[in-house]
Amino acid sequence: MTNTTVQSGANKDLTLEEAHFRARVEAREEPADGVVGLTLVPSDGGRVPSWSPGAHIDLVLEDGLVRQYSLCGDPQDRTRYTVAVLLEPEGRGGSRRIHETLRVGAEVEVRGPRNHFRLEPAERYVFVAGGIGITPILAMTGELDRTGRPWTLVYGGRRRDSMAFADRLAALGPHVRLWPQDERGLIDLADALGDPAPGTAVYTCGPEPLLRALEEHCAAHWPAGSLHLERFTPLDVDTTGDTPFEIELADGRVLTVPADRSALSVLAEAGLDILSSCEEGTCGTCEVEIVKGEVDHRDTVLTPEEKEENCSMMVCVSRAACARLKLDL
Ligand code: FES
Repeated sequence: MTNTTVQSGANKDLTLEEAHFRARVEAREEPADGVVGLTLVPSDGGRVPSWSPGAHIDLVLEDGLVRQYSLCGDPQDRTRYTVAVLLEPEGRGGSRRIHETLRVGAEVEVRGPRNHFRLEPAERYVFVAGGIGITPILAMTGELDRTGRPWTLVYGGRRRDSMAFADRLAALGPHVRLWPQDERGLIDLADALGDPAPGTAVYTCGPEPLLRALEEHCAAHWPAGSLHLERFTPLDVDTTGDTPFEIELADGRVLTVPADRSALSVLAEAGLDILSSCEEGTCGTCEVEIVKGEVDHRDTVLTPEEKEENCSMMVCVSRAACARLKLDL
């Protein structure tokens, strides 16, 4: 296994070469209706690469299908990874494949981990999770308990029996509140977050309507930079007005990206070996440093502040907002 990283201008770890290994499903459970929890151990009996709460891995399925899942176990335990996968009947097939084929003893290729949803230093933490968005937050709350930092969690879901790990979390104490929608309606964000307090970080992961509501609430009531979120779904971007642009490389070559192609595909065709995974702007694998030029950022990985800084871009979806970009490639 190899894993080499460098720091980007946006202060992320840009992975040049990632760990990848075969893993065996050691255990499988059903922590909620429609959710399977998988314990994955390296097939060669080795240790898993280190990770921090908020990290995700790729599961590379048959036919090259790649899906990303947050790690929800204990980062101190280097013998295994744990993920929880929600069956999405209307999805693109990845979750169904996992539910149907990854039984105990089955093997799967694992890539990563990588982390664009880190726990930043704060005096206290407020978590709001929706549905399967509980998975990265589960690892975060475990880390905070281990290091003795205060946190609260409001965890919503359609029904109590659809909420993975709900009983385990509720047993932790009154700082965890379950919010099943069929019993309590939508999460009351003012109640869940409380009054804005200095030194408090708000973390959320869940369905898009919840994330948008939290963005609006925090923009109106909380200090800038308080909210940290992770999106699993790509931005809905109107591409009808896309135009060609140029990319200048470090060796002086200039490539043209046609209106109907991604920068990633043009760079790959030119022989640049850029790692990619989701190819829809949600995983952060294809992040590349910008040397010069303005970018039309279309990913869900970089924060608004990082997009403003314009130090790096996800070349699978983002495009130039100028005639030519110079990239650190
Ligand atoms: S490949 Fe996932 S963000 Fe580009």
